[in-house]
Amino acid sequence: MNNFIDLDHIDTSILRHILMLGKSFKNGISRYCKQPLKDRILAMIFEKPSTRTRVSFEVGMYQLGGSTIVLNHNDMQLVRGETIADTARVLSRYVDVIMIRTDDRNKLAELAKYSTVPIINGLTNYTHPCQVMADVMTYEEHRGSLEGKIVSWSGDGNNMANTWIQATVHFGFEIRLACPIDLMPDAKIINWARNKGANVLLTNDPVEAVQDADCVLTDTWVSMGCLKNNHHDLLPSFQINEKLMTHAKPNAVFMHCLPAHRGKEVTDSVIDGPQSLVWDEAENRMHIQKGILTWCLS
Ligand code: CP
Ligand code: NVA
Repeated sequence: MNNFIDLDHIDTSILRHILMLGKSFKNGISRYCKQPLKDRILAMIFEKPSTRTRVSFEVGMYQLGGSTIVLNHNDMQLVRGETIADTARVLSRYVDVIMIRTDDRNKLAELAKYSTVPIINGLTNYTHPCQVMADVMTYEEHRGSLEGKIVSWSGDGNNMANTWIQATVHFGFEIRLACPIDLMPDAKIINWARNKGANVLLTNDPVEAVQDADCVLTDTWVSMGCLKNNHHDLLPSFQINEKLMTHAKPNAVFMHCLPAHRGKEVTDSVIDGPQSLVWDEAENRMHIQKGILTWCLS
């Protein structure tokens, strides 16, 4: 079963194949027929809000000849106690592929365990692989291979930070993360990546992280479902602003998965400035997800 769950469980060759598909869909050159997912149906379960993920999957699936069903978990029997396992068994009888956005990665794992159709991770509290694949596609489009590059993160060590660390193992870049001591990325993911030979630097100093960077990243200070309320006290010194960007290479790019909180994790001058690739990242969600869907259903 071609599940797209986490980057640590997918071969580099498959991720490269998905990137190739995403790029060819974007360029209008598909090696497959014009509507490779004709009559296929994607169900999307949302336990959290979404703009990009929902719309990019819906439009992408439609353009590939398929259709979608959007399920807000509050409207499902899940809220009345039906199990994820039973939900997986039932949905598998109706649809061809399921995407879920959930707070709890154990629910994603359970869905994958009991589903007989492929499952796609549309974000959990732990990782966000569709977004990082779109970001890799975006960086490569503008600056070429990530191999040997320095990717820097300043902010909360959240699901996006975790996924970028997983991506180092596949794409051969060095990652330097500046996070408050209490908001470091997941230790298991860091250990996994280091054991695979990845170069992961952790610091509390944004200048150290951003020095000579080719790509500067950040994300919201408070992720969806985050119950800690001290992030606004811990994170202001990690803001990406013009001064911090001067420590990166002159041709460095800035990326953010969005939604952004302007004036918090990033200033207007950076997100709207010439180094920012944020709108291309958002667009590429659709192209890369066409690649993910096509691989899942191949
Ligand atoms: N980046 C991202 O996943 O955006 P949404 O929350 O709008 O889907
Ligand atoms: N870290 C953010 C990403 C949103 C796309 C969150 O989980 O809310």
